[in-house]
Amino acid sequence: MENFTAYNPTRLHFGESIINKLGTTVKQYGNRVLLVYGKGSVKKYGYYSSVVEELEAAVLEIFEYSGIKPNPIIEDVEKATIIGKQNNVDVIVALGGGSVIDSAKIISLGIASNENPWDFMTWKLTPQKSIPLVTVLTLAATGTEMNAAAVVQNHSTGQKVGYVNPLMFPKDSFLDPSFTVTVPKNYTSYGIVDLIAHSLEAFFGQGEPSVIDQITIDIIKDAIQFGPLLMDDLTNVELRAKIMLDATLALNGLTSYGKKSGDWGVHGLGHELSLLFDTPHGASLSIVYPAWLKLQKNRIPKRIIKLGQGLFDVYTVDDTINQLLAFFKKIGSPVSLNEIDIPYDSRARIIEQYKKNQISGMHHSLSNNDHEKIVDFMFLNKQLF
Ligand code: NZQ
Ligand code: ZN
Repeated sequence: MENFTAYNPTRLHFGESIINKLGTTVKQYGNRVLLVYGKGSVKKYGYYSSVVEELEAAVLEIFEYSGIKPNPIIEDVEKATIIGKQNNVDVIVALGGGSVIDSAKIISLGIASNENPWDFMTWKLTPQKSIPLVTVLTLAATGTEMNAAAVVQNHSTGQKVGYVNPLMFPKDSFLDPSFTVTVPKNYTSYGIVDLIAHSLEAFFGQGEPSVIDQITIDIIKDAIQFGPLLMDDLTNVELRAKIMLDATLALNGLTSYGKKSGDWGVHGLGHELSLLFDTPHGASLSIVYPAWLKLQKNRIPKRIIKLGQGLFDVYTVDDTINQLLAFFKKIGSPVSLNEIDIPYDSRARIIEQYKKNQISGMHHSLSNNDHEKIVDFMFLNKQLF
């Protein structure tokens, strides 16, 4: 087991109707609220009015920034920061999925400083303060509701950057599974893939504490058991709750206890696909993970087999990879670049992008040659069937 430090200050409020504590909770942090949300789903399905009602009942003054896109961009963060500063807001309420909450984390740094928030993400400057952030999650996937990470794209520099800073832990996060029943089929499956990928990134990190291996495998097993049931019954709140809790547990720090770090190479590879092709995050991971495992086949066979044994009761690397592929396919997430209409002539561009941003894992490093192999596997994954 590796030495580790565990810290997680986020207060989680989980369950149906839990939102009725939102107003009083936010009020602790001040009276002027910046409400941040996405492109419209929260208005369409009524979550926006529930949240506003709660905030108004607590006599809070609301300012808004909307339009955060999936795979969020730094321009929105910058614009929202200006609105927050102009109106002297005390606290941010982020209503949405990972893209909205991640943006809100960086906005919380921007509002508390006079610097360009991108300079924090690229480690040019170190933030000293943030303003309090309260989240209302509408999509189970990223774990951002209970971690200190944010991922934002900058097309002018050609980067999708993941940034972690304890200042960005949400103060409180409200998880009402009934707020996720309207997540469409595709994003529901991407969310399941994402939580599995977070568990796998931890599993393939440095350090193999037995109890955490077991917990991590159990989180994935829960998703493998209940994910397909949810895909056939999207409005089932109990199934939504199970997947929502799986997703939080997969990336709130727990699966990294006893480890030096997770690996995160697959996420790095996936982020570049999102940057180049606007591929949804989870979809990028169901394509990259099987390819990455194929690359690692002869390097870490025991570890892969331990996973296969725990998840699927299989005893070879190939069976493990094929079972995982079959699961991703079963829930409708793509497993090859061909499936998301990325033509083979993009091969060189993807490899170049990986090389340029030196994409690698924290535990399993990736060479330029590895990048080439992975890209070829990603074009070929489909042919495993
Ligand atoms: O924009 P709106 O209209 O709100 O629609 C969103 C969006 O189109 C929609 N949606 C969200 N909740 C809904 C809903 N539609 C109907 N009903 C609801 N209840 O879903 C679409 C996707 O939303 P998005 O927030 O982009 O999805 P997700 O939660 O998967 O977030 C993905 C982002 O998080 C980053 C990813 O890289 C990506 O940018 N990640 C953040 C991490 C973290 N902070 O720890 C870790 C992850 O590995 C990941 O990298
Ligand atoms: Zn992820």
